[in-house]
Amino acid sequence: MYSSGTPRIHELSPEELSVYAMLKPESLPQHVAIIMDGNGRWAGRRSLKRFLGHQQGAKSVQLVTETASRIGLPWLTLYAFSLENKLRRPRAEVNFLMRLLKTYLENNVQRMMDNNVRIRYIGRTHDLPAEVQDRMRWAEETTSRNTGTTLTLALNYGARSELVDALRGLVAEMRTKHLNPERLTEEDIHRHLYTAHMPDPDLLIRTSGEMRVSNFLLWQIAYAEIYVTDRLWPDFRGIHLLEAIAAFQRRERRFGGIGEGCGEVEEDPERIRIAAG
Ligand code: FPP
Repeated sequence: MYSSGTPRIHELSPEELSVYAMLKPESLPQHVAIIMDGNGRWAGRRSLKRFLGHQQGAKSVQLVTETASRIGLPWLTLYAFSLENKLRRPRAEVNFLMRLLKTYLENNVQRMMDNNVRIRYIGRTHDLPAEVQDRMRWAEETTSRNTGTTLTLALNYGARSELVDALRGLVAEMRTKHLNPERLTEEDIHRHLYTAHMPDPDLLIRTSGEMRVSNFLLWQIAYAEIYVTDRLWPDFRGIHLLEAIAAFQRRERRFGGIGEGCGEVEEDPERIRIAAG
């Protein structure tokens, strides 16, 4: 259903290839989402300023995206800047992140073209500085005909505000089409999310060891496998993405059903006498 271009396995490094060899290519996740965390700690541990951690983190973004495109991953979504980041970080750091994003796009669009990567965004991007939005549009248009991995940057993003925006859209649609609220379905909400055009993530990765989802894709990760690594984002590379996918493939996904080894299914549950109580 979703095209991801042709995988370019021969472009993986020998180390990546040794992990890739353990994967089942026929059951790769369709969509990997990543909460990139730990830039500040990476810098702190080296007695560097925080902005150097972000700069190094931007390098990881490009390298991980390239590995994703080489294995033919259709969708990669990265939490690059949250609504809370904008509100709660010092102005100088927010300004730096904005400049970094702009430079990142300017410097990496050619590499995206070389890797058949298409870039898109989710979030309240209309509240970002005009010159950043301008570069974002340019990068999106330039890469729009690429057919490999879609890299989605979540920018000025919050999952609860995404739901607010979705509900506003849905209510407006209901008014104009005179829809009956009793007949609303999950699909109706899905159609109004920023992510309506993509499948839900199968795998959610978080770096730097925190066990939180931090208001990221709350609706969409209902059945995602969660993989947390202690590695800080600026140290995260393509090989670590492949390791996360290997761990994902070892999991048994049940989607609310029952798995193997969970006991025999009783043909007629009515026949079982409830002993206790
Ligand atoms: C968390 O590190 C990371 C972010 C604020 C978002 C990720 C940003 C980047 C990877 C930089 C640039 C991205 C692009 C797309 C150019 P933190 O500062 O919260 O780390 P800490 O928890 O260790 O302080």
